[in-house]
This record gives sequence, structure tokens and C-alpha cells, in this order.
Amino acid sequence: MTCTPGQPCEEGKKRANALAALALMAVIFLLLSFASFIKSRNQVTPDAVHFANHDAVEGKRVFQAYNCMGCHTLLGNGAYFGPDLTKVYAQAGPTWLAAFLPSAGGWPTGPAVQVLLQNPEQQADAGVADLAAYMKKFPGAAERIQRRGGHPSYMPNLPLTGDEVNKLIAFLKYTSAMNTEGWPPKPHVDGLSFPQAKPFPNVAAATVGAAPAAAVSAAPADPAAQGKALVAEYACTSCHALDGSKKVGPGWGGLYDASVKLTDGSSVKADDAYLAESIVEPNAKVVDGFVAGTMPSYSSMLKSDQVAAIVAYIRTLQGGAK
Ligand code: HEC
Ligand code: HEC
Repeated sequence: MTCTPGQPCEEGKKRANALAALALMAVIFLLLSFASFIKSRNQVTPDAVHFANHDAVEGKRVFQAYNCMGCHTLLGNGAYFGPDLTKVYAQAGPTWLAAFLPSAGGWPTGPAVQVLLQNPEQQADAGVADLAAYMKKFPGAAERIQRRGGHPSYMPNLPLTGDEVNKLIAFLKYTSAMNTEGWPPKPHVDGLSFPQAKPFPNVAAATVGAAPAAAVSAAPADPAAQGKALVAEYACTSCHALDGSKKVGPGWGGLYDASVKLTDGSSVKADDAYLAESIVEPNAKVVDGFVAGTMPSYSSMLKSDQVAAIVAYIRTLQGGAK
């Protein structure tokens, strides 16, 4: 376009306006680009979230290595066989996760969580040191323990080491800390009549936080029966089968008096002393084919007569149970 002679020339003015608009857009573009580099704009970053010397980035690798996404979703992405895990740390807390993940085929009981709460790393992260306070702080743990504790779950046992569990906790802590803008929404189940839609039992009124084993230790004189009750209370059977089959740990059927091969190549006779030691100091002698650190130590939870009762119970699983 050129200026027509004798008419006022608009061309220069229009060009100046276009250049000014372009300059303004360039400034806005640069400012927005700059803003996008401002550190994560109050979103957490995975390298900043830790659990027990591991950060969430390490946990993400474990999450991928075990293909948890093949069954679970995060932020709604993934597969729908298992529940969404985005907020599970916020709901159930680190210690419930530590109790659940190594023996995911069974749901943890209160005492099973309490055993792990003896661990200083757990206490530091959870911010509480006893089970009652933990349940109060993480109502999702209380609800899970009360509704399903001690029952089998639909998730398979995975061969996770203690270190991998800690890394996963760091990762799930990170996903819980993400700002998801209110996602997931609370489900509305009003008016539905099937049992799964019913509200959970009143957790506050329940005795999940009560001291474990109190009733049991007051109860029967028969040590094997007492041992059986303790085994149920501490959910040992989420890791140990009562017959000879292998779960997360070795089966107990026919174990008593048998010869047990250890990781160092030696063998030991499974007598009272060995079994008692295996319960209070599981890493002292590690059974061949298993990893140290999978089984928590019960030394601070079980009194010696309770350990003896459990050993008496294991003795009854002799032979035929196999
Ligand atoms: C083969 C499928 C499968 C795989 C693989 C799997 N899970 Fe699960 N998981 C499930 C199912 C199913 C449930 C629900 C169990 C139930 O309700 O009894 C579950 C439950 C859970 C829960 C409890 C959720 C809650 O809200 O109480 C956590 C935590 C969990 N899984 C973590 C993991 C992690 C971490 C991995 C990877 C290391 C993993 N899962 C791999 C199937 C799987
Ligand atoms: C998180 C899983 C887990 C839980 C929970 C658990 N254990 Fe174990 N247990 C193992 C593993 C793994 C081994 C083998 C490695 C070792 O020797 O430490 C084992 C080993 C043992 C052994 C030695 C078995 C053998 O064949 O020599 C005994 C006895 C035992 N556990 C008793 C118990 C009792 C009693 C409880 C509950 C109070 C319990 N465990 C809870 C995982 C578990």
C-alpha cells in the first residue's frame, strides 16, 4: 500500500501502531516466560520431599520398576484395578504404609502398625510416637485398620525390600503434598443401598487405639492358644503361612525342630531359642532366600512370656499342617 497523493497518509501511523502492539506482546511474552521459571510457583518438587534419607525421585523409580501404575492410578491416570494412590499418604500416614506395603496381601492390624511406630524415622515423619495419637492424626489409618485389619487384601505381595518401601513412602508423601486443586472429589453415595456404599463404622468410638495385647495377656493359661491370639493380633500371618508355603516370609508348618538354612550358608535347628530370637531379633539369623530388614523386630512390643507363647503355638503347627 502506498500513500495516494493529495490525501492524508495513514500508512506511517498504522505501522507505528503495529510495532507498538508487537513490542507490548513481546514484553508480555518475556514476562510470562520469566514467571514460568519462578521456582515451581508454590508447587512442591519431588527432590524436596524426603522420607528416611530417600527423596521422592528415588521412590518414583521404585514405583515404575514394580509397575504400580499397572493396577493403580495417580491423579486419575493409570489402571483402575486398585484404588487411586495420590492422597493415600495424607490419609493413612507413613507407618500404616510401612506396615501394608511389604505384606500387601493382608491388611495391617493396629499392633502391626504400632510395632513399626517404634522406629525413630517413623516417629519423626508421623510426628507422633504412640498408636492412639497416630490414629487421631491419620484417621484414614484408623478407618482401614478398623474396617479391614487382619483380613486378606486383593493386592498381591510384592518382593519389596525395606529400603524400597521407604522410597515409596517418600514418593507417596510427595503425591499427597501436590496441590491437586481439590481433586479427587468426595464421592456422593447418598441413597445407595448396597453395603459398600454404607458409611464406615464410627471410628472415633472404636477401640483401635487401645493398648494392644492387653486382653490377650490377661487371658488364657494355655500358651499355644495365647500365642495364636497374639499372632492374629500382630497380623504375623500377613507374612507367614501356617503351613509350609512361602509368603513374604517362610511358612511355619513343620518348622519346629527342623533344620533351617541361613543366608550365610550355615544351618540352624529351629528350637525354642532360635524361634524366640527370630521374633525379637529377626536380622540376627536370616533364612536363606529372604532379605534382612523385611520383618520388623518385636523386641519392644512382646514380653518374653508372649514370645514363648508364640513359639509354643508355632510348635503346634508341626508336621500335618504342611
Ligand atoms: C496386580 C495389581 C497391583 C499392583 C501391581 C500393585 N497394587 Fe497396590 N493394590 C492393588 C489392589 C487391588 C488394592 C486394593 C486391595 C483391597 O482393597 O483389598 C491395592 C491397594 C494398595 C494400597 C492401599 C490403598 C488404600 O487406599 O488403602 C496401597 C498403598 C498400594 N496398593 C500401593 C501399591 C504400590 C506402591 C505398588 C507398587 C510397588 C502397588 N500397590 C502395586 C493392586 C495392585
Ligand atoms: C513384613 C513381613 C513380616 C512380618 C509382619 C512378620 N515376619 Fe517373621 N519373617 C519375615 C521374613 C521375611 C523372615 C525371613 C527372614 C529372616 O529370617 O529375618 C521371617 C522370619 C521369621 C521366623 C524364622 C522362620 C524360619 O523359617 O526360620 C520366625 C519364627 C518369625 N519370622 C516369626 C514372626 C512372628 C511371630 C511375627 C509376628 C509377631 C512375624 N514373624 C511377623 C517377615 C515377616
